Amino acid sequence: MTIQWFPGHMAKARRQVTEKLKLVDIVIELVDARIPLSSRNPMVDEIVQQKPRLVLLNKADMADPEMTKKWIEYFKEKGFTALAVNAQGGTGLQEIVKSSKIILSAKFERMKAKGMNPRAIRAMIVGIPNVGKSTIINRLAKKNIAKTGNTPGVTKAQQWIKVGKELELLDTPGILWPKFEDQEIGYKLALTGAIKDTILNLQDISVYGLRFLEKHYPERLKNRYNMDEIPEEIVDLFDIIGKQRGCLMAGGEINYDKTSELIIRDIRDERLGKLTFDLPENLSKYDRD
Ligand code: G4P
Repeated sequence: MTIQWFPGHMAKARRQVTEKLKLVDIVIELVDARIPLSSRNPMVDEIVQQKPRLVLLNKADMADPEMTKKWIEYFKEKGFTALAVNAQGGTGLQEIVKSSKIILSAKFERMKAKGMNPRAIRAMIVGIPNVGKSTIINRLAKKNIAKTGNTPGVTKAQQWIKVGKELELLDTPGILWPKFEDQEIGYKLALTGAIKDTILNLQDISVYGLRFLEKHYPERLKNRYNMDEIPEEIVDLFDIIGKQRGCLMAGGEINYDKTSELIIRDIRDERLGKLTFDLPENLSKYDRD
């Protein structure tokens, strides 16, 4: 799903999340484990405010496991509980209720002390498009909830999904926008498939991907494209890959667009292994403090 975000859409999205916040005890913020900061909404702290929050690093099955550990530490230092999950495969999801209970234990103790009846924890999912919100809701609901479009004139009542006895989840997630003004973030969103019909130039995305691999995962780059050494000039690297994979035009010239598409597809489809593009050791650029 590609959404074109305009100021009006952002204001509406923010309003919708703010409205639903009143209904829940906790916000479950979904990020992509491969880009735990680039896949965050730039204003999420401001929007969610003091509401207790659990951060889920989803698609952890596709991310570099060593980096995921570091990211969990990073969030912990920021005062958030973070869990690595795979909504598609269902791994790690059983921790959601456990962690939510711990985060909310003081609140629920206070409610109990006031003589209020025990009730399930109420939660809502928020995150940017494609981060896996629907997948996780369906998984937790253990059934397929149809995605509801905007049908004019039909107001859908808010539905709660029971997740066991201890958690209730709003059936519609809060959809927030990514920080797409930053070109580097744009490349990372494209390389992880968060933006598909991309407005960014394919060659620029693939150059960014190749440079990143060259710096952080050089052995994988060499292995994938059968190279002893990585050439210094990026055009030479394109030539090697393009020639090897038959991305040629009539006359035998390298088709750079086709080569770019192939590189991007290889990265998205894990042909270069489990990759994490946001690096915790390189945080100053992203830190919002
Ligand atoms: P959204 O509601 O936040 O927009 O995201 P959605 O659940 O639709 O998920 C987007 C894509 O990501 C889906 O693939 C979904 O299967 C995949 N996905 C979600 N969670 C995980 C996960 O933990 N691991 C992996 N590997 N994939 C996950 P799709 O519909 O097939 O779209 P696509 O494959 O064409 O991107």
